[in-house]
Amino acid sequence: MATAKAHTNIALVKYWGKKDQELIIPQTDSLSLTLDEFYTTTTVDFDQELASDQVMINGQQLGGPAARKVTRLLDIVRQRSDLTARARVDSHNHVPTAAGLASSASAFAALAGAASQAAGLQLDRRGLSRLARRGSGSATRSVYGGLVEWQAGNDDQTSYAVPIMEEVDFGIEMIAILIDTRQKKISSRFGMQQSVATSPYYRLWPEVVAHDMVAVKKAIAARDVDQIGAIAEENALRMHALTLSAAPGFTYFDSDTLKAMAIVRELRANGINCYFTMDAGPNVKVIYDRVNREAVYSSLADQLGADRLVVAKPGPGIKIWND
Ligand code: DP6
Repeated sequence: MATAKAHTNIALVKYWGKKDQELIIPQTDSLSLTLDEFYTTTTVDFDQELASDQVMINGQQLGGPAARKVTRLLDIVRQRSDLTARARVDSHNHVPTAAGLASSASAFAALAGAASQAAGLQLDRRGLSRLARRGSGSATRSVYGGLVEWQAGNDDQTSYAVPIMEEVDFGIEMIAILIDTRQKKISSRFGMQQSVATSPYYRLWPEVVAHDMVAVKKAIAARDVDQIGAIAEENALRMHALTLSAAPGFTYFDSDTLKAMAIVRELRANGINCYFTMDAGPNVKVIYDRVNREAVYSSLADQLGADRLVVAKPGPGIKIWND
């Protein structure tokens, strides 16, 4: 029996599209910031007495396709460790599930950590990153803290994350604006598949990312939050252009997403530097340097309500222990 705690991450240069659906090999590299405020704690216990895997999330039994995803990851672990026992999985998400706050990133990283440890596999962090990837692409990056790059690679061996700056030594922070924390209608898995298959703009995406990866790493090396934020904002808009231009077109934005984007632009016009990014959901994450925290926070709180805001700082990598 083992437990792992993994934090979510928010991509500054997004992963949007796979070249291998089964192994979850992405079309491009991506780069993210792991956050301290949102995490998942998961305990896995392999038990010969169980007839099937039992998965609890926040005290509720999980069924259907979500439970099958967990079993698929457990099957990989069982296969590698010659185990046949089914598992009891008890997971607690300190993230609003499936609202575009990357709960699958922390969830599958924690599951990979706890399951591999409980099965007696001695995985190093690269191995853990590769295993987490099999559950959900963004989980690949949640093995590490701070700023993390997922190198796309070409196959299971070569697709994993590497840390860029685990202990972030400059002032980058994010405020998460919780616009709608209900389950999203179009999963990122399906949404990116539609974009790859049908957006005439998708063929430009690898070029956009290649450019942004070089630029964002330079900006990180210079500890230039404004430059990082500007790249992330533009990259997010270009990712979301791939959903609008799919057939049929769709969007993750709702009216309050647009409102939050407008507030960020307005703050910037008034000399308070901050930038937005959105994942596969309506919530907005605002990127800024901590010297601007009060100004950004109070303006967002006035216009959207303080109860919808969470201030997040760079967070740590995965922790795993035996119970
Ligand atoms: C927009 O990792 O949820 O958050 O690999 O199909 O499980 P699957 O997708 P997922 O997609 C994340 C997409 C994103 C961008 C990112 O995190 O890089």
